[in-house]
Amino acid sequence: MKFKTIEWKKDLVRILDQRKLPQEIRYLECRGASAVAKAIRNMAIRGAPAIGVGAAMGIALAARKIRSNHPEIFWTKIEEVCHLMGETRPTAVNLFWAIERMRRALNQLHSEDVEGLKSRLEREALQIYREDVEINRKIGENGKSLIQDGVGALTHCNAGGLATAGYGTALGVIRSAWAEGKRFHVYVDETRPLLQGARLTAWELIQEKIPCTVITDSMAGSLMEKGKINLVLVGADRIARNGDTANKIGTYSLAVLANWHQIPFYVAAPTSTFDLNLTSGKDIPIEERAAEEVTHVGGRRVTPEGVKVFNPAFDVTPHSLIEAIITEKGLLRKPFEKAMRWVVDK
Ligand code: MRU
Repeated sequence: MKFKTIEWKKDLVRILDQRKLPQEIRYLECRGASAVAKAIRNMAIRGAPAIGVGAAMGIALAARKIRSNHPEIFWTKIEEVCHLMGETRPTAVNLFWAIERMRRALNQLHSEDVEGLKSRLEREALQIYREDVEINRKIGENGKSLIQDGVGALTHCNAGGLATAGYGTALGVIRSAWAEGKRFHVYVDETRPLLQGARLTAWELIQEKIPCTVITDSMAGSLMEKGKINLVLVGADRIARNGDTANKIGTYSLAVLANWHQIPFYVAAPTSTFDLNLTSGKDIPIEERAAEEVTHVGGRRVTPEGVKVFNPAFDVTPHSLIEAIITEKGLLRKPFEKAMRWVVDK
């Protein structure tokens, strides 16, 4: 990868500021947990696995900065930071999964030595980071056979290296298929309102020299009707135990369109995106973001003053519209509940 989404630098966490891409390559140097939390909230770093890694590094960073040698004070402060991280964004379950893993790492340590607790948290954060890249490579391997030579593949939002510790989930599958020598074309939904497709996915694909075309979100149906799209491949923010999948707003519409045109619709995600506590997608909390993301484009107002705005960041695609879920542990087909439980227990 030619860029690093996030890096652990011991006294700081370095984050590639995705709000500026592709025009500007600028890094944020977060010297404390609140700076990391802010970067997640304002989407300088975004994408389900990436914000999980960010939260874990934020907790490890906070631990390093705690001066007290009293384990109780240390635990209380870490708990506060876990809470802070958990308040940043509500939909992607990878965030809560990573926070829980950091808590568990501490709980498993019986030592009372604060320095030992600090290094344990640092090790766990780095482990989550490294594992994520490995997992994405496996997702790529497991999904690459779904992309045939000569096809058109449509993707939405950014599920690439920028949305993860590296390589990407949906883009990981695309990268792996390309690396194997398959030749195909990627259609990139621009992904209103924040343009993660047009700005970020296109930027990644151009760097890999994978042929791609950016389209506005409303063009997908027309391209499907013309036979230009043979599969849809997206990432996920949370997958309920029946397979219902929350992903970037607009994903559901694509799945309905794909179904109408009899085009397979695939979700690529690590098993840390599963939320087996939720029976269906109806229970997934959907983040609503600021109206300005819709009323303004490139800092300029495009709507009349005072108009009402609805800005949910995600929608839920029902499991019936999903052909398969590509995970690091294999390709899951329906019934998803059984398949998901099986891979989680594996
Ligand atoms: O609001 P964002 O940009 O964080 O939303 C990201 C997505 O919806 C991605 O598709 C999802 O997190 C999967 S990333 C591998």
